[in-house]
Formats: sequence, structure tokens, C-alpha cells
Amino acid sequence: MLELCLLSDLKNGEAKGFNVEGSGIAQRLIVVRQGDGVKAYINLCPHIGSRLDGDVGQFLDAEDPTMLFCDSHAALFRIEDGVCVEGPCEGDKLFPADVTVVGDAVVYARDGVELVDEISRIVSTTE
Ligand code: FES
Repeated sequence: MLELCLLSDLKNGEAKGFNVEGSGIAQRLIVVRQGDGVKAYINLCPHIGSRLDGDVGQFLDAEDPTMLFCDSHAALFRIEDGVCVEGPCEGDKLFPADVTVVGDAVVYARDGVELVDEISRIVSTTE
């Protein structure tokens, strides 16, 4: 279990990337504050398995910041359930990450090794 940040570190609606695998490796978790809770996804697009943020840390659509955005092919995903509502993978879903709020902390229920394993599994199925 890893504490990512405090809930108060995120503004409501803000999306932030977290790297839990060690320094120098791309941010692999996306956490979006939704009121007193969060939604979280692995930073992999279900289309071809690339990361969503072309500009590192830019996860929300510039025109509609209530949507997550994949920079590769301009797909839009609902924050609440990760479903793609526009783009080449319409109907597919982002991969949920087990992140919750415990007290005032935003916590990932697994560790970096488990995340890397999960990413490897996902990438092998999207190739
Ligand atoms: S890689 Fe995300 S829409 Fe194509």
C-alpha cells in the first residue's frame, strides 16, 4: 500500500499523475479528485496501450476538463467510469487502479512491483 498524496493536495476535478515505480519512470497512475473521493486509472490507453498524456501530466481535455483525453488519437474518456465516448476506441474502458481515500490520504492499495506486473499484462493483451 502506498500513500500518493493528501486529498487536499488535489483541487476538485484536478487530474494528477503519480509514479510509484521508482524515479525516472513515467507517471503510471492517473488520479482525479471527485469531491471527497477520487477516480484512478492506469496511464495506458485501451486503444494501443500508449500513455494518455502527450504533454506530461496533461490528462484532462482542454475544451472539456470533465473528460480524460488521450493525446495520441484525441480520444475522450468519462472520468466516472473510464469509458471512451469519442475516438478510435469508443466503448472501451480505461484500466481502473485501486486508489481510495483513507482518512485524508489518497492511497494506492498495491505497490510499484504489482503495478509494473499489471501494466505488463495489459500491454501484452493490447499488442
Ligand atoms: S492511443 Fe489513445 S486513442 Fe489511440
